Amino acid sequence: MATPDSLLASNSPPAGDWPITPALAALLAQRREGHGLPRAFYRDEALYARELARIWHAGWLFAGFAFEIPDAGDFLTLDVAGTPVLLIRGDDGAVRAFHNVCRHRGTQLCRADSGHVRALVCPYHSWTYSRQGELLACHGMHEGIDKTPLGLRPLHAEVCLGFIYVSLAPSPAAFAGLRERFEAAGQPQGFDRARIAKAIEYDVDANWKLVWENNRECYHCITGHPQYIRSNFDIYDEGEASPEIRARIDAAIARTNRQWDVGGDGADHPKGGLATFPDPDSDLWYTCNRTALAEGFATESLAGGRVSTLMGDYRDADVGVLRMRSMPNLWLHASCDHAVVTRMLPAGPRRTRMKSFWLVDRFAREGADYDLDALLPFWHLTNEQDWEICAWQQKGVDSIGYEPGPLSRRKEYNVDAFIRWYLKQVRA
Ligand code: FES
Ligand SMILES: [Fe+2]
Repeated sequence: MATPDSLLASNSPPAGDWPITPALAALLAQRREGHGLPRAFYRDEALYARELARIWHAGWLFAGFAFEIPDAGDFLTLDVAGTPVLLIRGDDGAVRAFHNVCRHRGTQLCRADSGHVRALVCPYHSWTYSRQGELLACHGMHEGIDKTPLGLRPLHAEVCLGFIYVSLAPSPAAFAGLRERFEAAGQPQGFDRARIAKAIEYDVDANWKLVWENNRECYHCITGHPQYIRSNFDIYDEGEASPEIRARIDAAIARTNRQWDVGGDGADHPKGGLATFPDPDSDLWYTCNRTALAEGFATESLAGGRVSTLMGDYRDADVGVLRMRSMPNLWLHASCDHAVVTRMLPAGPRRTRMKSFWLVDRFAREGADYDLDALLPFWHLTNEQDWEICAWQQKGVDSIGYEPGPLSRRKEYNVDAFIRWYLKQVRA
């Protein structure tokens, strides 16, 4: 069924929840089971507004790291699809999140990506807020104005293993489940004892769902990532691993788990392919699992050799790769000596802003313990390959000639799972 043109004409920003109009309901009913999403899902403004309301303004979003703002007054900003957000460490040491919007006439308060302030001063008329968000001064306003209700509008924020999560929802889902799972799996990695060696932002000319769909399958890896597939067994699905391949996988898992005494998850690769995620039936929006690296790979580097000092509790290089994800905007791969954490933020129906953070142990020194030339290429190259694939896919699905094709039950089960998870959110 073709997309009604009236849907494409709608361009209003989301205001609270975005209603399902009859046209939107018709669009949401278009998906054919076992197939990709129809064209309008990757370009329609009204649907995008609904996604912002139901997913991006509702869920928990990975925003940044607590160790990026170690001192009182340190701040970070981010833009959640046109909603500016401020993260700041207060005088009491707590990390807080606020709408980065002045309570006077609404100008964006902090404009830098990061920085340090003694107080937050609006550049427009100098209303001044404390590092806890209270309105301290509003010189020039009339006598007797009550400053108490004019503090910055707070947002929910949580810190787990150094990861700062923020939610724009008034009453977000419980965070405790993610905290428990991430802490159990991620503690040995020492995320909270890490620092950022490098962060790179990428503008991807594709709808955010195309970026997730690409992430959730390795069907494209043989042609798309010839260097990535040398390091792991992601491409071998359950039906495809020959006895020789299965023996290699089992040997790699046994090697990784042999000295496993640091807690957290051991390696596993029970069914081949990628770990199942997301799971629309259980509504689980986060997962962790550890996979083994192929022979000759101590870490996810192009040459396979270590690229920094060991992180966290690891005493051996052979720890495989810890993978963690949370919907709607985080995935990471963590090796023995570094971790690459990737954050997604939509920036329009056809534009997605990605940021990857390369983490190393906080005491690792550039030039002595690691070199960016060795640390970055594996995931920087993989990222750029993926973003290019996604941009070409956007061009194709934008075409009136596009019709969704069937998904491989062997290799694209997670694309199907993602689509079902997504439809559940936007239809609800
Ligand atoms: S808009 Fe911020 S002080 Fe006027
Ligand atoms: Fe990829």
